[in-house]
Amino acid sequence: MELKLVAQKVPPSADAIGVVLAKGQELDFSNSITEIIESLIEKEQFVGDAKEVLVTYIKDEDEYRKLILIGLGEEDKLTTEKVRMALGRLLNKAKKLKVKELYIASSLAGQTGELKPEAMIAESILLANYKFDKYLAKKDESKLELISFVGADEEAFEEGKTLAEATNIARDLVATPSNDLTPVILADFAKEKAKEYGFDIDIFDEKKIQKLGMEAFWQVAKGSDNPPRFIIMRYFGDKKNKDNITALVGKGVTYDSGGLSLKSSDGMSTMKTDMGGSASVVGAMCAIAKQKLNVNVVAIVAACENIPSARAYHPGDIIGSMAGKTIHVKSTDAEGRLTLADAVYYAVKEEKASRVLDIATLTGACIAALGQRVTGVLASDEDFYQRLENSSKLSDELIWRLPIFDHFKEAYKHPEADLNNTGEGGAGTITGGMFIGEFVEDTPWIHMDIAGKTYVGKDLEYIGKGPTGVGVRTLYYLAKTYQEA
Ligand code: BES
Ligand code: ZN
Ligand code: ZN
Repeated sequence: MELKLVAQKVPPSADAIGVVLAKGQELDFSNSITEIIESLIEKEQFVGDAKEVLVTYIKDEDEYRKLILIGLGEEDKLTTEKVRMALGRLLNKAKKLKVKELYIASSLAGQTGELKPEAMIAESILLANYKFDKYLAKKDESKLELISFVGADEEAFEEGKTLAEATNIARDLVATPSNDLTPVILADFAKEKAKEYGFDIDIFDEKKIQKLGMEAFWQVAKGSDNPPRFIIMRYFGDKKNKDNITALVGKGVTYDSGGLSLKSSDGMSTMKTDMGGSASVVGAMCAIAKQKLNVNVVAIVAACENIPSARAYHPGDIIGSMAGKTIHVKSTDAEGRLTLADAVYYAVKEEKASRVLDIATLTGACIAALGQRVTGVLASDEDFYQRLENSSKLSDELIWRLPIFDHFKEAYKHPEADLNNTGEGGAGTITGGMFIGEFVEDTPWIHMDIAGKTYVGKDLEYIGKGPTGVGVRTLYYLAKTYQEA
């Protein structure tokens, strides 16, 4: 499907016209469209209620075209998320009606918040059009070939397209099962994307990982026959400020069985998604590089499987880490924080990151606390956090900050080791995150817990059920805040 900005009004070849309309909104469409909508409103056949959908026909230059009307609800209660959802609904309806060429008549001026309409329309439509059908014999049969809409801001349009494309890359990664996405395959994939999008990449194998002293990461990885990979992606777009570096560290456990602290069969059935954080940072790097942002970003993934075997680490083991701290392994299922401990430490020590953000499907507790749509956040630095919060408003990805109180440290104390990888007392999302924070020293740090957000059971209309690509757009906007004006 192609997406196009057009200058003229209704293209003659369009077989359907889409209109997204709030209640009582002024009608500024071409005469024939305005006329028909006015008469529908007058007869109360369409009022613009939230989620309202009406399909009718319009005769225009002797041609009949479908007219798809989508309601946005009250204008004063409008949010950018509602606009995105309405666009998703329009796309889904057009596909169902087997439309070939859709023209979106709504300009959405003033309805897209801080984003330009061209960006939001492109982003939402391309996100809504996503389907993971790689493993289906019968592929998506959409007839939709072209969507056009009025707009002039090519730059915003391109940015929106890039962000959807990058998010969809992350969604493909999350949806790909672990038999087809081992750590080596993930690393190779990142290498391909590095070439395609224009960033540098280094990949360390299991020998180098051990040589560098990444013992916490290695202990998690060593039980599997599929060897781990440590992936470093670098994009230096701001050569004048080479030492201003944002590190994005993504959890890349390509399969989490729990290890010897084995999960239940149900619990492990979705654990191909435990590399969701790595998908977010790979996607974000693609977008950052494609948009040639004037910033420096290093993305890091410690990719491995967490599998029980005769070589696997044991509950009760005391292991080391690159930072030199020892860790008691209470549960081999609290593996993400072990891989991330070495990855964030590496970011600070070897890549000299000015700030570190880790993003991870870290705790089931985060699903219990915040559900499937809200990312739990810990932040050690106010300025860094404020930038993230602003970015999440642009992406419409919800975040919620959790407190870092000193007493939570009790949860990961152990009498015989410097740290324990889990403990009692609840607040698992906070204590799990704070454990990772022990490895960044004084570097400004953010932790995002996206457990349950990478792959969802609820249809958001512009992001359907299944993989969401959560994080990609927020991380892109976050990186962009470091661009010099
Ligand atoms: N990958 C899981 C977290 C998870 C759970 C993600 C459900 C998505 C859906 C993580 O490695 C894990 O197993 N965490 C444990 C931690 C516990 C042992 C302290 C958990 O949440 O139960
Ligand atoms: Zn686990
Ligand atoms: Zn895990």
